[in-house]
Amino acid sequence: MYNIFGDFMERLQKIIASKGYCSRRKAEELISKGKVKVNGSVIKELGYKADYSDFIEVEGNPLSDKEDKVYYLLNKPRGVVTSSSDDKGRKTVVDLINTDKRIYPVGRLDYDTTGLLILTNDGDLTNYLTHPKNNIEKVYVAKIKGLITKEELKVLSNGVIVDGKKTSKCKGKILRTDKKNNTSVVELIIHEGRNHQVKKMFEAIGYDVLKLKRESVAFLTLDGVKSGEYRELSIKEVKKLYGEKNG
Ligand code: URA
Repeated sequence: MYNIFGDFMERLQKIIASKGYCSRRKAEELISKGKVKVNGSVIKELGYKADYSDFIEVEGNPLSDKEDKVYYLLNKPRGVVTSSSDDKGRKTVVDLINTDKRIYPVGRLDYDTTGLLILTNDGDLTNYLTHPKNNIEKVYVAKIKGLITKEELKVLSNGVIVDGKKTSKCKGKILRTDKKNNTSVVELIIHEGRNHQVKKMFEAIGYDVLKLKRESVAFLTLDGVKSGEYRELSIKEVKKLYGEKNG
């Protein structure tokens, strides 16, 4: 619905939730308790419609200067570039998401890597998740050429030299070995995010990665999200991500 100035009118609780202040249910509770003001007046009516240019205060905090934050979890397919634009005209991860916001990927997955990627316009979350001190856990499954042994995996887990620097200790598990095709499938749980890290780690012990998929980031998994599809993160998940820290 539009007002006489052509501004889009929306239920107050929806506007509050869309600014990332809290969930819609919590916003309803705050409205009922008289904690929300629109243009200086307390509004207790749940059906009240405001427009995005109104001056809204929740518990004394103005909302109007906050940009709408959006958060997506994408199951990245192969053959898509992890960036917002590509000078070679290739499809990017941002092209896969239907939004009018200027979103960008959190970290990167290679062109041929598949799996979980977060995209957002929230720079603070991006910094939080990519800062090495927060040790965010990432689970990868790699199909490699050759039959890896437990001893070799131990070497990898204890840290190998990548680009002149030793990788941190990590956990590894051999999920399958296929003697006929001479391949192995290995799960690797790492907390760093260096460029081409997993491929370089395997290279360091003499194995080429044939396929790579990121299965999870922190507590987020690909459950229910097929390749090429995405979903929005809930406010609860975003708050939990901000609290995520390992070690
Ligand atoms: N490590 C890699 O080598 N590639 C990726 O895409 C992600 C982690």
